[in-house]
Amino acid sequence: MDSQQLTLIAQIEDILKHQPQLACVGETLPLNPVHGEAWIDLYRASYTTSYAFSHEEAVEEWRVTLASEYGVVWPEASPQFFVAGRLVGSLMTVRQAPWNNVPSGPFIIELVVEPGFRGNGIASWLLQQVAEILHQNKQQTVALRVMANNLSALRLYTKTGFTLWQPGESAP
Ligand SMILES: CC(C)(COP(=O)(O)OP(=O)(O)OC[C@H]1O[C@@H](n2cnc3c(N)ncnc32)[C@H](O)[C@@H]1OP(=O)(O)O)[C@@H](O)C(=O)NCCC(=O)NCCS
Repeated sequence: MDSQQLTLIAQIEDILKHQPQLACVGETLPLNPVHGEAWIDLYRASYTTSYAFSHEEAVEEWRVTLASEYGVVWPEASPQFFVAGRLVGSLMTVRQAPWNNVPSGPFIIELVVEPGFRGNGIASWLLQQVAEILHQNKQQTVALRVMANNLSALRLYTKTGFTLWQPGESAP
């Protein structure tokens, strides 16, 4: 049976209260079209247990993302994390998601960490980086969607300050 999709929202100031410990050394760069090949490999590696994306599907996902099908990508609020030159973590934010029943404002459309690098605080670090950029840009909230059965992601988000958002509810 399909899992339910939940919409979560966080106050930027709540995310900023956390100080995640990053357990590996790396470089954080804003999203750039030149990251395409690396992102496609990371995306495919990241979803092997829940879904299996073919190379073509991942290429298409990258294409439609950059073509603004999920909203206009905000490169500075889409940090990419590299270890020794290799892309191992990626977060993508759009200025506004195009779907019905989502809060207005910045929306995280993807967050993936390479399986071999999980548990090092990389996702938490990327969320912190986004919050700092959005705070500098006078944004109050950021939202995202997650499957209800994605327990590791749910733990990450609740720990970072996200709470359930209900359709029709304005930003908290
Ligand atoms: C969800 C995901 C991004 C987490 O990345 P990560 O870099 O390992 O996360 P962090 O190391 O920052 O972990 C932060 C917190 O998340 C929770 N968490 C992360 N992985 C977890 C796991 N496997 N089981 C339970 N909790 C987990 C924990 O609360 C953890 O804090 P702790 O280590 O102090 O207990 C990663 O597992 C992933 O890429 N999953 C596949 C793609 C996906 O589902 N993305 C989310 C789509 S909405």
